[in-house]
Amino acid sequence: MGKATARPRAGIAKASAAKVGAPKTGAAKTKTAKTRATVLVRPARDVDLPAVTRLRHQAERAHARLMPDYFRDSPPDAPGAWQPGQGPWSTVLLAESVHDARTVLGLVAVRVVVTPRDPAMVPRRRAHVEVIVVEEGHRGAGVGRTLMQAATAWAREREAEEMVLTVWADNAAAEALYATLGYQPIARILRRKID
Ligand SMILES: CC(C)(COP(=O)(O)OP(=O)(O)OC[C@H]1O[C@@H](n2cnc3c(N)ncnc32)[C@H](O)[C@@H]1OP(=O)(O)O)[C@@H](O)C(=O)NCCC(=O)NCCS
Repeated sequence: MGKATARPRAGIAKASAAKVGAPKTGAAKTKTAKTRATVLVRPARDVDLPAVTRLRHQAERAHARLMPDYFRDSPPDAPGAWQPGQGPWSTVLLAESVHDARTVLGLVAVRVVVTPRDPAMVPRRRAHVEVIVVEEGHRGAGVGRTLMQAATAWAREREAEEMVLTVWADNAAAEALYATLGYQPIARILRRKID
C-alpha cells in the first residue's frame, strides 16, 4: 500500500493516555485471572529502545511458535522494524505502569496507510496495526485492550476510517482480544506446500 501524503491536523500528535484500573472480578476463560494493570499509554522515545527491543523479541518468539516455517527470533542486535520516534503517520505506543514509569508492559505499532492510486479501489485511509505485544507475565490484565484502544484513538486523530490487522492462525489470545473489540475477518490467506 502507498504512503499517506497529507499531514495530520495540528495538535493531535500528543501522547495518547489511557488508564485501566478497576480490579478484575470473576474467573477468566482460558487464562489466569489477574488484577487489572493500571497503565499510561504514550509514544515511545529513544530511551525506550531497550524495552522496545525486548518486546519485539517476545513478539517474534510468539510468532515463531505459531508459524515456525515463516518466523524466527531475530539476532539480539538486528535492527527492528518498529523504532521509537516514528513520523506523523506511524507510531509505537508503549504502556507503562503508573506505579513505575520505567516499567514498560507492552507496545503497539500502528501506521496510517492510504489506498494506492488504483481506479478499481475505493480511496480510503486505514490504520494498520503492525504488532501488539504485552510483556510475558503481565498478560490477561487488560494491557492489550488498553493499547488497542489507544492505537484506535491515535488513528482516529489522523482521520483513519478503520483499523486493519493480520492475525496468524491459532493465536487464540490475539483472536480473543480482537473479537472483544469488534474486529471481523475480511480475507483468508490459503497455502499449500509444493512437494
Ligand atoms: C495478544 C496479546 C497482545 C493480548 O494482550 P493481553 O494484555 O494479554 O490482553 P487483555 O488482557 O487486554 O485481554 C483482552 C481480552 O482478550 C481476551 N483474551 C486475552 N488473552 C486471552 C487468552 N489467553 N485466552 C482467551 N482470551 C484471551 C479476553 O477476552 C480479554 O478480555 P477480558 O479481560 O475481559 O477477559 C498478548 O497475549 C500477547 O502479547 N501475545 C503475544 C504477541 C502476540 O501474539 N501478538 C498479537 C499479534 S497478531
